Amino acid sequence: MQGNATAISESLSIGARDQSDRHAPWRLSVAPMLDWTDKHCRYLHRLLTKNTLLYTEMVTTGGLLHGAERRHLRMDECEHPVALQLGGSDAADLAQCARIGARWGYDEINLNCGCPSERVQRGAFGACLMAEPQLVADGVKAMVDAVDIPVTVKHRIGIDREESYDFVRDFVGTVSLAGCRVFIVHARNAWLKGLSPKENREIPPLRYELVYRLKRDFPDLTIVLNGGVTTNEQIAEHLLHVDGVMVGREAYHHPWIMSDWDARFFGNSACGLSQDEVEAEMVAYMVRDAAEDGTPWSAIARHMLGMHHGRRGARLWRQVWSDHKLKTESPLKVWELARSHLQVDAQLAA
Ligand SMILES: Cc1cc2nc3c(=O)[nH]c(=O)nc-3n(C[C@H](O)[C@H](O)[C@H](O)COP(=O)(O)O)c2cc1C
Repeated sequence: MQGNATAISESLSIGARDQSDRHAPWRLSVAPMLDWTDKHCRYLHRLLTKNTLLYTEMVTTGGLLHGAERRHLRMDECEHPVALQLGGSDAADLAQCARIGARWGYDEINLNCGCPSERVQRGAFGACLMAEPQLVADGVKAMVDAVDIPVTVKHRIGIDREESYDFVRDFVGTVSLAGCRVFIVHARNAWLKGLSPKENREIPPLRYELVYRLKRDFPDLTIVLNGGVTTNEQIAEHLLHVDGVMVGREAYHHPWIMSDWDARFFGNSACGLSQDEVEAEMVAYMVRDAAEDGTPWSAIARHMLGMHHGRRGARLWRQVWSDHKLKTESPLKVWELARSHLQVDAQLAA
């Protein structure tokens, strides 16, 4: 009897561990951001955190099927774990693109059901797909059947003035039946008319409670909260209610915030590099990518402008790295110049 009880309690605790492990890859992630989270940006972020899941910019199925695969999908081995975000609605195209993404080594395929831009609406995908859960489910099913890696969906809590919880609950319910186990929920509505994409990230109110409720109603699904998270304390608070938190703008503008995420949220050692060491690695990467791919250093340096956010001299640091007159200089020289300004400014402050 005693043995039985021990066995049951062991199996329960293993069950509990499995449960939490199942959600673990999504505990913390950096959001997909068009024009921002390209491979160079992800290289920087990966120096700061090894465990955080990184997302690509959205790649449309049309762009991928009719454009240059390499341009869209090239990535560095160090970027793992990294998810490819697709924009599209045709099931066959999505399946084909998911296959291509898996072939390039991505760890996850994510479908964008949250982007409100007019261009995306004209293509009939993004946030307007939330009005057609069955279409999303068909796309998801086609992708799930096509690849062995997880297929996930990023969406809003509603569109336009549809404020009822039932709307998002039914969306998640329908799409989960098609095989999606992970939902990344930007906790505000998308207003499809009258707001720019930027306004759509600021004006519709954040309603975290709806995301928490999704987790309560779908305990077996992995529910990730996104939107307006700017501090480690907020991340920790949300993690009491949901399985994961996705951070967008704050991670991009102040990348150093990520340097203790591995220690704080994954129980691993922190990134261990000083700011100087991270920057030195980035400069070496600029030299390498210029030689291998002809990438101008400015295409990489633009993602580092926020490295010294909040410190004296940060403005000069940004100015130097953005100065087009320096574009023929070596990145090492530009870095030295940027740092010297930082030091002078710091001395002036002392
Ligand atoms: C410049 C920019 C580009 C974005 N591009 C995408 C995108 O390609 N796909 C997507 O799902 N969301 C995109 N988003 C939305 C973010 O993924 C995220 O949902 C939003 O910024 C809210 O999170 P935050 O408050 O942490 O920034 C973008 C956001 C920004 C600022």
